[in-house]
Amino acid sequence: MSAPNKSYDPVEVEALKPAEVERMRDEALAAIAAASTLDELQQVKVAHAGDRSPLALANREIGALPPHAKADAGKRVGQARGAVNKALAARREALEAERDARVLVDEAVDVTLPTDRYPRGARHPLTSLADRIADVFTAMGYSVAEGPEVEAEWLNFDALNMGPDHPARTMQDTFFLKDTDSVVLRTHTSPVQIRSMLATSEPPVYVVCPGRVFRTDELDATHSPVFNQVELLAVDEGLTMADLKGTLDHMVRALFGEGLATRLRPSYFPFTEPSAEMDMVCFACRGESVGNPDRPCRTCSSEGWIELGGCGMVNPRVLRAAGVDPERYSGFAFGFGIDRMLMFRHNVEDMRDIFEGDVRFTLPFGMEI
Ligand code: PHE
Repeated sequence: MSAPNKSYDPVEVEALKPAEVERMRDEALAAIAAASTLDELQQVKVAHAGDRSPLALANREIGALPPHAKADAGKRVGQARGAVNKALAARREALEAERDARVLVDEAVDVTLPTDRYPRGARHPLTSLADRIADVFTAMGYSVAEGPEVEAEWLNFDALNMGPDHPARTMQDTFFLKDTDSVVLRTHTSPVQIRSMLATSEPPVYVVCPGRVFRTDELDATHSPVFNQVELLAVDEGLTMADLKGTLDHMVRALFGEGLATRLRPSYFPFTEPSAEMDMVCFACRGESVGNPDRPCRTCSSEGWIELGGCGMVNPRVLRAAGVDPERYSGFAFGFGIDRMLMFRHNVEDMRDIFEGDVRFTLPFGMEI
């Protein structure tokens, strides 16, 4: 390094002239004042207070000045840089405060606003219908009974008067469980009736049994390998077919309204004798669509009647298998598919809609909880 040049006059170094230092300072202060965001302020800081800013470059020149000029130039440049840093800090503080205030407003959440972002769930219409049916019977003194879906073959068939070789076994296409002995997926809820009788030491027995049942049906618009039944069983002294008819009439009234006739058609089930199919007058057209092409009815296909399910007086052999004395007690039973009932009650055209869980199907049923 060369020796200090005594004759060197600081004012001759352009960047260190007082007016020039003041200009650099004022330019910096103006830029700081003009910065309207923190990002802009950061750029201003690099430009006017960074290592390569005019004031920093001027500062580097000081070292080469003679001692007497050094002090003067150092003081002026130092003051200018101090003023710039102070202004930067003040502007940063102001901009930060502004940003914080803005964020508070922009991101404010009104916690009192109502929201439906998470729509409330509801019970499936099938569940609601099963409950409604169960309510009709519990109001008459019945209790709800449930049983396993994987059932002993004996309870599903044998105890219901369908021995191993009984031809009626083929009426219900059965899922058998692999590698098990005599265990099936129940084909109906009738085994729950046997369980209820076995669980009671002595009648009366009044039970309603809703539940899922299984048959090897193909899935299509009117069939499903898994569907739902409700069965009821009454065992008491002196019960007759008239009690069965009166009970069914009451159920139809409770579920579909007043004034709808019911009828029994002779039929066959191994577990009831006599057996019948039970129909009700169509609740939609009240029979008026029959022979009346101008007023076709979708609900009953203009037949006037809707088939509800099978019923009959409990076969004495079934009572005996369940430990009930048929000399003293008699009983009636009724069973029907509630998926089918949901379909005709609400004009559901495709059974698969009931099982697929699409809310577009279930929403119109409302929000029964
Ligand atoms: N369990 C019969 C079925 O699923 C229905 C039924 C129940 C018939 C009670 C008569 C009496 O086919």
